[in-house]
Amino acid sequence: MLTTLFVALAISAVFAGVPSPEESKRLMDHFSDAEHFKNEHHNKQFDHDAFLGEDQAKTFDQLPPEESKRRLGIIVDKIDSDKDGFVSLVELKDWIRYTQRRYIDEDVERHWRQHNPNNDGEIPWETYRKNVYGFMDDMDQSDMNEPNSEGYTYANLLKRDRRRWTQADGDHNDALNRTEFAGFLHPEDHSHMRDIVVLETLEDIDKDKDGKVSMEEYIGDMYKPEDGEDGDEPDWVKQEREQFTGYRDTDKDGFMDEHEVKDWIAPPEFDHAEAEARHLVFEADSDADEKLTKAEILDKYDLFVGSQATDFGEALARHDEF
Ligand SMILES: *[C@@H]1O[C@H](CO)[C@@H](O)[C@H](O)[C@H]1NC(C)=O
Repeated sequence: MLTTLFVALAISAVFAGVPSPEESKRLMDHFSDAEHFKNEHHNKQFDHDAFLGEDQAKTFDQLPPEESKRRLGIIVDKIDSDKDGFVSLVELKDWIRYTQRRYIDEDVERHWRQHNPNNDGEIPWETYRKNVYGFMDDMDQSDMNEPNSEGYTYANLLKRDRRRWTQADGDHNDALNRTEFAGFLHPEDHSHMRDIVVLETLEDIDKDKDGKVSMEEYIGDMYKPEDGEDGDEPDWVKQEREQFTGYRDTDKDGFMDEHEVKDWIAPPEFDHAEAEARHLVFEADSDADEKLTKAEILDKYDLFVGSQATDFGEALARHDEF
């Protein structure tokens, strides 16, 4: 889902000449917000983003293995804050918190400056809309109603942004100050934005637009059989089917509604940094002593910083050249 939409956006950026790469990237960010919550099925990009921060992860994607290993060694020394030669679960969790915080702060700063070059106290909606969606004013309006068309895609993104903006606008003056803007840009980081993240996630997965998530939509969001592959699903997909029936669909009506999606992606008290740290320790801890040596980490360098051979990674790399 992520890849398809991204490619669609990237292609339109090339052929229509709009919007700018930076804007496309911004639109793209919408689709990754929810991924921060869907911790169940891990993918490598998710691990790298969590461990390095998204900006750094992109830099590492371009490095040859030897160089990324060398830099990983330096990072490991930093993570081991008490210098006892081991990376503990707590040290790893603190590091993940730190990289996430750094990424979000830098991202907010970058977009704040981009939309507000005079550094005013607030950004009015109309200014933001013109910056990001102004090109739509010249588009054929009839195109906006044609599903799968470029216009339709952008019209939906605009609607979604508008709704998110309103939710972030605490004092209801239709302009966002820096705090409010941070909530708009990174709703996953703000508890009062949680319902919007839930809604956006539901809408992304709910392909037939009936307002709820069926088993097939739930599985389809994380797994697509390869071409020509039929029959047996991998075990983790079978487990996800059992998860859906046994835990996600709590009222057993065959669907996940908004409340059930919320319990799934945003359970109360769930600590994402801790979950990610546990996952990384589990994967790399070859002698099972619940802490990691530098050797164990370098041994699994692919898990922490290895480069991506997926089309998503390639698309990102290409996208930077536009
Ligand atoms: C922005 O506005 C909110 C109210 O929506 C307020 O709580 C917050 O302190 C303001 N932040 C700044 C930086 O002015």
